[in-house]
Amino acid sequence: MSFTHDVVERNVGLLTVLILLVISIGGLVQIVPLFFIDETTQPVEGLKPYTAVQLTGRDIYIREGCVQCHSQMIRPFRAETERYGHYSVAGESVYDFPFLWGSKRTGPDLARVGGRYSDDWHRVHLINPRDVVPESVMPAYPWLETAMVDSSDIEAKMKVLRKLGVPYTDEDIAGAKAELEGVTELDALIVYLQNLGLLVK
Ligand code: HEC
Repeated sequence: MSFTHDVVERNVGLLTVLILLVISIGGLVQIVPLFFIDETTQPVEGLKPYTAVQLTGRDIYIREGCVQCHSQMIRPFRAETERYGHYSVAGESVYDFPFLWGSKRTGPDLARVGGRYSDDWHRVHLINPRDVVPESVMPAYPWLETAMVDSSDIEAKMKVLRKLGVPYTDEDIAGAKAELEGVTELDALIVYLQNLGLLVK
């Protein structure tokens, strides 16, 4: 019996192996070159690792599920760049573990929200969005104002990130706990938001 299509279609095991083989070639052709293109692996000019406060704010952003309603990825289309600014580039998120690009947009994209509003605006908005945007469906996060940040694991977090390639120095890590003293969760979250997307104009 010769090796025909017929043979492959009647043999589920063989069919599965061949499908996986074909799909993995397609995947590798798309994915592997990205590891070698500088543009996708090198930080954009001026990119600094998150400070202890920014990093803590980012973790609060993750904990509170902000990413479920807000993307951080501006696509290279006119409708997006007119509204949000320069499209996102890979070099902006090389220190992001995990990245928070997302795709669900119940609220606007936040990739370049840094500097768009004052700290006070964010403060009021996060405590009760309806106070500044009456028609908003965003949940209120009033507890952030009184909760102090948890600094107990900040050094461990930064050490893990350093292992993943974020260039934290020993001084950065040694000073992290002190940097978080007296900071509320709301402060940390706002510091994180105000730093988003400032480097590419
Ligand atoms: C249920 C969906 C939802 C969740 C969860 C959510 N948001 Fe929003 N967000 C919205 C909507 C809708 C708007 C637009 C109306 C407004 O400004 O309140 C918005 C607006 C914003 C804006 C203003 C953006 C702009 O360009 O005007 C910021 C900043 C923001 N959200 C931050 C956050 C943060 C931080 C969290 C997590 C603590 C969060 N959001 C959680 C839905 C959400």
